[in-house]
Amino acid sequence: MTEKDFIPSPYSRVKSEGKVGYKSPSNIALVKYWGKKENQIPANPSISFTLDACATTTYVSFEKLLKPASSFSFDLFFEGEAKPDFRPKIETFFKRVELYLPFLRNYHFKIETSNSFPHSSGIASSASGMSALALCLMALERELSPGMSTEFFSKKASFLARLGSGSACRSLEGDLVQWGIHKDNLESSNLYGVKYPHEVHSIFKKFHDTILLVDKGEKQVSSTVGHELMHGHPFAEQRFKQAHENLSRLKLIFKEGNLDNFIEIVESEALTLHAMMMTSHPYFILMKPNTLEIINRIWAFRKRSKTHVCFTLDAGANVHVLYPENEKDEVFQFITDELIAFCQNQQYLCDKIGFGARLLMSN
Ligand code: PMV
Repeated sequence: MTEKDFIPSPYSRVKSEGKVGYKSPSNIALVKYWGKKENQIPANPSISFTLDACATTTYVSFEKLLKPASSFSFDLFFEGEAKPDFRPKIETFFKRVELYLPFLRNYHFKIETSNSFPHSSGIASSASGMSALALCLMALERELSPGMSTEFFSKKASFLARLGSGSACRSLEGDLVQWGIHKDNLESSNLYGVKYPHEVHSIFKKFHDTILLVDKGEKQVSSTVGHELMHGHPFAEQRFKQAHENLSRLKLIFKEGNLDNFIEIVESEALTLHAMMMTSHPYFILMKPNTLEIINRIWAFRKRSKTHVCFTLDAGANVHVLYPENEKDEVFQFITDELIAFCQNQQYLCDKIGFGARLLMSN
């Protein structure tokens, strides 16, 4: 599919008012997306586990205006309160998707959103937030174009979420989602995420992710700036090639359930992501001393316990501790005994693999 396929034909139905709600989760990348081209096209393919507990719930109420508005008309409430500082993000999103959702200026929207995790946790809410909002808008579009297939609905919702925040396009479905063209997956696209099509061993069907909140402060360098710094980065081409290779290697690993090889790729991906940050111009470091302390303790514990606990990182100091269901008691004991001391205010979030977004209401 191309971008043009997401521009709708004139709508066949009118909808004067209504309300829709979706709950959409966050996701954690195993092969990381870092670097993009124009219009949120990823520089390399990525794959993620969809999460379950870390999610955003969004309700959108809409009311048709008498005539199209000159600027987008919406009210925004975050956890019950008006949030003027979130408005620019929504404005930018609306601008980017207007071509694909030409009804946007015809309505006044009331957007009510809340997160299951504390806003100041340093957990990015853009993936869950943008995917939930994209789904709500698609639900309205489906009312205007009845007969839309479920497959098209999902693809377009992911396509729109991507325009809000790249990694958001991987949050709509579960449990493993790939985004970006890769030779082993003919369905893969740079425009939207697709469910991982290959065989996946049962060991990867129930994975835990305990998110250790090492630093809850505002990041010094945003993802947007970080992606930008991959342009002209001395190691960019090698990195993009490596992501393709890691995705190819994961195919057999997922099939066979080889946890040792899985760990090697996942941890290398996390450290490579941060190595890219440390070697860009200007360079920057998002890890904190406690991030490294936790990583070293995971390595020591893994060696002595023979378990398959590993870590990954997103663009921040927090550590995602990944482990399979059959080792959960032993690993969780280790986390509480040894790692929580290195979290800010001892805070952590328990999550696990999830299966994507859920419709809450539509009328
Ligand atoms: O979706 P963005 O633009 O916030 O970028 C997210 C990038 C990483 O989280 C670091 C990696 C990924 O693939 O999710």
